[in-house]
Amino acid sequence: MIRRLATVVLALALLGQGAEAVAQDQEAARFELQWFQDARLGIFIHWGIYSVKGVDESWSFYNKKIGYGEYMKQIEGFSAKNYDPAAWAELIKKSGARYAVITTKHHDGLALYDTKFNERSVVRSSPAKRDVIAPLFVELRERGIRCGAYYSLIDWSDEDYPAFVQGDGRYTLSENPAGWQRFRDFYQGQISEIAAQLKPDLWWFDGDWEHSAEEWEAMKVRQMILKVNPRAIINGRLAGFGDYATPEQNIPIETPTAPAWELCMTLGEQWGWQPQDTNYKSTHDLIHIFADVIGHGGNLLLGIGPKEDGTFTPGQVARLEDLGHWTSKHAEAIYGTRAGLPSGHFFGPTTLSKDSTTLYLFLPQPAGGSMEIKGLDNKILSVEVVGRSMPLAHRVVGKISWSKVPGLAFIDVPMEATDPWMTVLKVKLDGKVKLYRGQGGF
Ligand code: GLC
Repeated sequence: MIRRLATVVLALALLGQGAEAVAQDQEAARFELQWFQDARLGIFIHWGIYSVKGVDESWSFYNKKIGYGEYMKQIEGFSAKNYDPAAWAELIKKSGARYAVITTKHHDGLALYDTKFNERSVVRSSPAKRDVIAPLFVELRERGIRCGAYYSLIDWSDEDYPAFVQGDGRYTLSENPAGWQRFRDFYQGQISEIAAQLKPDLWWFDGDWEHSAEEWEAMKVRQMILKVNPRAIINGRLAGFGDYATPEQNIPIETPTAPAWELCMTLGEQWGWQPQDTNYKSTHDLIHIFADVIGHGGNLLLGIGPKEDGTFTPGQVARLEDLGHWTSKHAEAIYGTRAGLPSGHFFGPTTLSKDSTTLYLFLPQPAGGSMEIKGLDNKILSVEVVGRSMPLAHRVVGKISWSKVPGLAFIDVPMEATDPWMTVLKVKLDGKVKLYRGQGGF
């Protein structure tokens, strides 16, 4: 309760502050980010009229691969006729994801929720004739999964929006400030609609690159959102006014410095469903990517795209189910953990329990051999294989009595310990993790 109050007070305080104060606040992780950092895995859903023909979401007309008229005509084929939000929520839950983010409106300006602002929604203009977001949020929430709304700031369909297709814009801001003001009122109005109708736990903005923070009025948008729901969190694509970083498709080598971060990555090669996009990442590769991301303190937001009728391909379903087998077996090494050891201590990803007294080692290779931890200045109380009752022995070698440098810990891991995708060991320490990071002097 005290926490809650503090949160509200902080949010109210923020409302009265200038841009600088808000930006500074974001340097320190907001308390509300905790559930997000505990969640580790999210599922990202790109659904829209682009799944009728199976073309690039919005970009296909922007990049003139297809005419605007032909692109928009796809709405006549968007049926959602086999859409089963309960089955979607069940699949997401099975995968081990603790949150999901879905496109409420992409750059094409087509809303999947019930917007009152125009006819550009699947509710008013497609044979589906319904809001497909709200029922999903109900089903997700019933299963304890947090709900995120993807919303594109860009709206290439709106006549008041300056850009249209590549090389062919409608106007510049200085030529038509009134048009830009109309657009801002409209898009901020849609944000208010989404806040009221869907009450997202997380806002996933996109497309901020086309304008500056001042032009978008990014701070005002942040404040609007937090006023309605002080606990909402906002991704890093609100022109500097979000809470966490969002690298896309590319695994960072250097850990992002933001208070939290999330790698969004497609299961295949595309965000939305496309018929030729069948080259899905293998379960093995997904799990190794996931371990790498969480070992560096990030989340993985894994992208899938349903067909226009609301079904997923068997390959997408199989990957999520496989992922679920592994995440449930290794839950304690995943959820609620934090970034593990910095590089140099162990040749593979690691995570730490929140109190940093338990270390989890994600073995990059199948078991059957010795694993080594360097520079660990703790006594190891026990080692076991996660998800199995298999205690393992360890030994410490190279400890010199007169030196403060810790010895090397070796753990022998028998072949039988091997998990089909990635084996994880649990190392219990005698206290909070302590590391030696020096160059091997006295
Ligand atoms: C990019 C693209 C967009 C996609 C998004 C997902 O920003 O513009 O098509 O939805 O990435 O992260």
